[in-house]
Amino acid sequence: MQSRKIRFTKSNQKKWPVLVIVAITSVMMALILVWIGMHSWSIDKSISALNLDYRVSKSTQVLLEPAEEKTEDQTQSDQKESDPLRSEEPRETEIPDDSTNSPEKKSGSHEEKPEKNTYILNQEHPTSPTIENGIVIANKRYPLPTDYNRGEDPQARAAFNQMAAAAKLDGFEIVAFSTFRSYERQQALYNQYVAKDGQEAADQYSARPGYSEHQTGLAFDIGEKNFEQHWASPTFGQTPAGKWLAQHAHLYGFILRYPLGKEDITGYMHESWHYRYVGVKPATEMYTRNQTLEEYLDL
Ligand code: DAL
Ligand code: ZN
Repeated sequence: MQSRKIRFTKSNQKKWPVLVIVAITSVMMALILVWIGMHSWSIDKSISALNLDYRVSKSTQVLLEPAEEKTEDQTQSDQKESDPLRSEEPRETEIPDDSTNSPEKKSGSHEEKPEKNTYILNQEHPTSPTIENGIVIANKRYPLPTDYNRGEDPQARAAFNQMAAAAKLDGFEIVAFSTFRSYERQQALYNQYVAKDGQEAADQYSARPGYSEHQTGLAFDIGEKNFEQHWASPTFGQTPAGKWLAQHAHLYGFILRYPLGKEDITGYMHESWHYRYVGVKPATEMYTRNQTLEEYLDL
């Protein structure tokens, strides 16, 4: 009895390799049949499906190979570098402009307009400000006379006071923490910023002397009383007071002068606190059309 059991087991042991091979072959054949079945029992479709998988894996491989990808990216960046209109760098040296002494007349045609609002190399300050549709312009391409020194605009202040009264009714006590700044004051501020952050960075958030809207007396940097931590900070735009202003300022003749996403048009980073008085009609039109002053006046 015991010896018969031993013989039976030994005989099975000899058959195991054969059984394993048969089992693997059966599974493989079953898988092949399933694969062909998935492709309508067509050998051609099954093979072409295998080829497709191969191409996908090849393209994935290409995506993973930076050397291959660089060719296309490099072409794009080469194009950017060779195209001054697409350059990320300030193009002060590339823009001849002979309007510098007569900024009351807008210079150039629409086609000549730069993609970015950048400074013009060696631009001289005018003897009178550029005024378009009754609106005094101060941006990187339209400077003010260095001695333009009228102080804070009374009409803008009156409009601000009205706006502040309305804001108070809605629960916000707004204050204007910086309004008129003389050429000299702006120069001192700008020099400080350049010393701290370097000129390229400073130019993103501070106007050079003679180019600031604050010198017009029509720009109001606005914050909320007792929330000084948000003054001149990007966080102001996220506060209830900052949001209220963004939605209501046009009703009092103010525009959010440097909006988010329009940096290339205005020439400055988004400033949720810098409002510019232009009058109710233009402000409301700019607000409803989602336009900057540059877009509105087609500068
Ligand atoms: N911060 C604005 C751009 C100015 O300096 O006038
Ligand atoms: Zn400002």
